[in-house]
Amino acid sequence: MSLFDWHTLSDEVWVRAVKRTLYHKKHRTMRNSAKGKNLGLLFFNSSLRTRTSMELAAHELGAHVTTLNVGQGVWGMEWQPDVKMDAGAAEHIKEAVGVLSRYYDALGVRVFAEFSDYERDKQEQRIKAVIDAATVPIVNLESAFYHPCQALGDAGTLASHFNGRTAGKTFMLTWAYHPKPLPMAVPNSALLTAARLGMNVVVARPEGYALDPDVMNVARSYAAARNASIIEVDDPDAGYENADIVYAKAWGGPMAYTDPEGEAITRAGLKEWRVTAPRMLRTNEAGFMHCLPVRRNVVVDDAVLDHPTSLHLDQAEFRLHAQKAVLELVWGL
Ligand code: CP
Repeated sequence: MSLFDWHTLSDEVWVRAVKRTLYHKKHRTMRNSAKGKNLGLLFFNSSLRTRTSMELAAHELGAHVTTLNVGQGVWGMEWQPDVKMDAGAAEHIKEAVGVLSRYYDALGVRVFAEFSDYERDKQEQRIKAVIDAATVPIVNLESAFYHPCQALGDAGTLASHFNGRTAGKTFMLTWAYHPKPLPMAVPNSALLTAARLGMNVVVARPEGYALDPDVMNVARSYAAARNASIIEVDDPDAGYENADIVYAKAWGGPMAYTDPEGEAITRAGLKEWRVTAPRMLRTNEAGFMHCLPVRRNVVVDDAVLDHPTSLHLDQAEFRLHAQKAVLELVWGL
């Protein structure tokens, strides 16, 4: 099976993946469970954690792995269907994925939001084109709207931090200023993860930066089924009281598609949306989370990131454990 995103899979599959993630955290060792399997990784965008942790996860399960970075020794790709390929791209995604499917037992693919058409990104046209062209399982290594590997790593981090008792804890997801308009995959996935773990979620974001209503509705359905709550606030000082976790992330929002210049001007006026030590002092000694990479003293102050309650390195470590669970899932190990 492919892993597009957890919200398309049952609670049973999700809970088992979280358990396997925690198992791999406890028992990190070389295994032979994936011996003979071959994993191909195709990156259309930069990465530090996803690439290295996925390579290591495959290696520690006994699989062989190859990583390809499009634009670095790999043919440029065409995505449009029914197109006359007389411009720059030498290879169509259909052939690229079709060929790699003949070589590998699964493919991990990272392809970010295009940021030109909101609905096209929301429909996840690129990762879905990959899944359609493949004859082997696809693992989404971050697409336009979802980052399921980060989601599972974060679930493992949270479950470990709270000794399995995440239900009823308060998870604050806060927008943060960033010099670039970043995609919404991580905040969407963080929101869905916290809601699925039964946490009470506070989404703090400026006016104009609301997350997609359909994603919010999926999160609300998880919360309702778990007697938890989801609220939104639009003040950079609100939402910290009683937070057990503060998860910071910058994202561009719909305005970055419809009015990029206006969005840049709006965003430039929102630099006070930063996680600071005085704000963290108002929490319930909250753990600080960020998926990384993070811009120090822009998104979050040194004093927060360097404080012992920061969980950002735990999150990065949990990516390794989570991706072993993902490979077990897609390969049925
Ligand atoms: N968090 C995350 O996906 O990191 P990379 O972009 O470095 O892979």
